Amino acid sequence: MPMSQKSVTRVAITGTGSYLPEKVLTNLDLEQMVETSDEWIRQRTGIIERRIAEKGIATSDLGTRAARRAIKTAQIDPLDIDLIIVGTATPDSVFPSTACIVQREIGAKNAYAFDLSAACSGFIYGLDLADGMIRSGKYRTALVVGAETFSRIVDWTDRGTCILFGDGAGAAVLQASETDRGIITSYCGSDGVYADPDLLGVPAGGSALPLTGDNIDQKLHKVKMRGREVFKFGVRIMPEAALHTLEMAGLTVNDIDLVIPHQANLRIIEAVGERIGVSADKVYINVDRYGNTSAATVIIALDEAIRSGRIKNGDLVLMVTFGAGLTWGASIIKI
Ligand code: ACO
Repeated sequence: MPMSQKSVTRVAITGTGSYLPEKVLTNLDLEQMVETSDEWIRQRTGIIERRIAEKGIATSDLGTRAARRAIKTAQIDPLDIDLIIVGTATPDSVFPSTACIVQREIGAKNAYAFDLSAACSGFIYGLDLADGMIRSGKYRTALVVGAETFSRIVDWTDRGTCILFGDGAGAAVLQASETDRGIITSYCGSDGVYADPDLLGVPAGGSALPLTGDNIDQKLHKVKMRGREVFKFGVRIMPEAALHTLEMAGLTVNDIDLVIPHQANLRIIEAVGERIGVSADKVYINVDRYGNTSAATVIIALDEAIRSGRIKNGDLVLMVTFGAGLTWGASIIKI
């Protein structure tokens, strides 16, 4: 229920949670499926293994499990949640939204819920949106989720894409706060010139190219990507977004305790670290264990970093991402 309008000092992340399916798919497993090698995948991507959701498990199931953990950590009642945003490129179905299913499963019946389509940037977009909505004074508590089951839309015969992705979810509870902890600033952008499903996307299954037997035979309902172009874009846009966000906040990279870049490829992550001038020990990496979980990568990483004690209260974290659209976003948070 919207509250009476009241200004807030900052929007704090009062709880995070994540969920990774138990089933592990290693590079060695992939060697049995497509013409590739563990060595090639490690060298070109840094990925060693990824998680795959069991049959019958949907994106909402992963999102719900991550959300429950975030709610428990934040010590809130689901009935207190005003707003649920699920960033996903792999919704349970075209509609209803995955967010409404998460809402039902966690019993957050006072919230309004919707999905956000920004591919890998979905979590940062959601964070920025929820920050603004809470700052407006109209809402007090939001749940922002990044959840994906890319294993369902990957072409398991295409070695150029199937090695990259994994399934997983992360969630954050955001609440109005009177302290200085929380989201300092965020910056999001997009460039529709690159809105080309053959560059990065799924061509069939929407209104432009409804599913037919023919396009299913051509695997047009599966992920397509021109990897080298996407790589170059990521290496350019993530440092730009990170540096712009630091400037907006009046900070330098030396003020940041941990950088969490989108976990798409270790080479991209390392290039981003170098270009923004941060030492390697301040850059979070879990792409080796989970691959690219799209909208879920940065929030899974944030949750892991908090739970493992890698970051503590008062630390400054810079998250930065990019994805299909093309989209990008960065956010600086005081933990
Ligand atoms: N195993 C072995 N060989 C392979 C494999 C594989 N899995 N995949 C491609 N190759 C081959 C190619 O066929 C090519 O062979 P050729 O030289 O005989 O033609 C060679 O390896 C080099 O291929 P490239 O595509 O040039 O390899 P590159 O170094 O660019 O790595 C990769 C490919 C890993 C896909 C890289 O381009 C990349 O990571 N791109 C960015 C991906 C990304 O960040 N996606 C974000 C998605 S975000 C979202 O919104 C969903």
